[in-house]
Amino acid sequence: MSSTAEPSVPLVDATPRAIDGDSPATKSATAPKPTKDINTYLRRTVHNLLSLEGRTIVITGGARGLGLAFAFAVAEVGGNVAIIDALDTPHEHFYKLEKDYGVKVKLYKSDVTKHPVLKATFDDIVNDFGRIDGLVTAAGICPDEPFIQRDPDSVARCFAVNTLGTYYSAQLAAAQMIKQEPTEFNKKGGSIVFIGSIAAYVASKGQTTSDYCSSKGAVVALAKALGVELAGTGIRVNSISPGYMLTDMTLDLCDRMPWLADIMNNEPPMRRMGDRADLKVPIVYLLSDASAYHTSDDLLITGGIHAGRLM
Ligand SMILES: NC(=O)c1ccc[n+]([C@@H]2O[C@H](COP(=O)([O-])OP(=O)(O)OC[C@H]3O[C@@H](n4cnc5c(N)ncnc54)[C@H](O)[C@@H]3O)[C@@H](O)[C@H]2O)c1
Repeated sequence: MSSTAEPSVPLVDATPRAIDGDSPATKSATAPKPTKDINTYLRRTVHNLLSLEGRTIVITGGARGLGLAFAFAVAEVGGNVAIIDALDTPHEHFYKLEKDYGVKVKLYKSDVTKHPVLKATFDDIVNDFGRIDGLVTAAGICPDEPFIQRDPDSVARCFAVNTLGTYYSAQLAAAQMIKQEPTEFNKKGGSIVFIGSIAAYVASKGQTTSDYCSSKGAVVALAKALGVELAGTGIRVNSISPGYMLTDMTLDLCDRMPWLADIMNNEPPMRRMGDRADLKVPIVYLLSDASAYHTSDDLLITGGIHAGRLM
């Protein structure tokens, strides 16, 4: 821009387009005045934008694995954490969360596939925490069996946990986000982040995971659809699709199928598996005001595997 003085009004016409039946007179009567402050970037620091202070974030599948790392990321920037998991006993690191960060943390044993049970869990969370400002859906399973031999009940289970569990959790969280009172730290809505997978895009070498791949494809598509449908409510919906990440799930897989360790370490162009620390800032980014204009997207964090393989 050649001008040195900053304009005091937006350069872009923010007037909503007339919809069918709107006369020009109606249009101008309802058009918002172009009084937007264009200098918020001077006040909103990166530190402030990434803060989750005061907010309550629900994390499904957070008793171990990626979900537990997300719980640490949220707590480290001041957020309270409600974890939903089917496990009786969480990983030992869970107990460090409340002790080390001074935020409110609670684990709820539940099942994301059983809607009435899950609804009661979300009700408990609202009773205990007062509100829900964010949701991360990390509960997931990854069966590995050739397509032709797949048992229908096992296929249904995979879709129930990965896809329906995500759908139900998002619906329950969004219903609360829409009805709760605005606060200083969250004026409207909230942020929902699904955990998809590189498997939504490419078949996994050395594995036969047809149901897993398709269940994750549905999760990525759901984020896109909901981001659009819920935009007017102030709720943003995105997903993160990790590549091979070092967690209990992948360690279990490598124990059962030892050839996978080599694939997971050497397939990504960056020649390593992802570390859970690689996802901590992306999850905080998507949950916080730092991503206030970012919705209906999928972040691929794969060490480059989604783009290609080295020779
Ligand atoms: N680890 C990876 O390489 C990788 C890569 C891409 C995507 N993902 C996805 O990330 C998510 C987390 O994976 P992870 O590696 O941490 O796995 P994990 O097995 O370590 O953790 C998954 C958690 O989900 C919980 N869970 C399973 N079924 C549940 C149910 N019905 N109700 C409530 N909780 C349930 C489990 O108890 C467990 O604590 C999964 O959705 C997975 O598909 C993982």
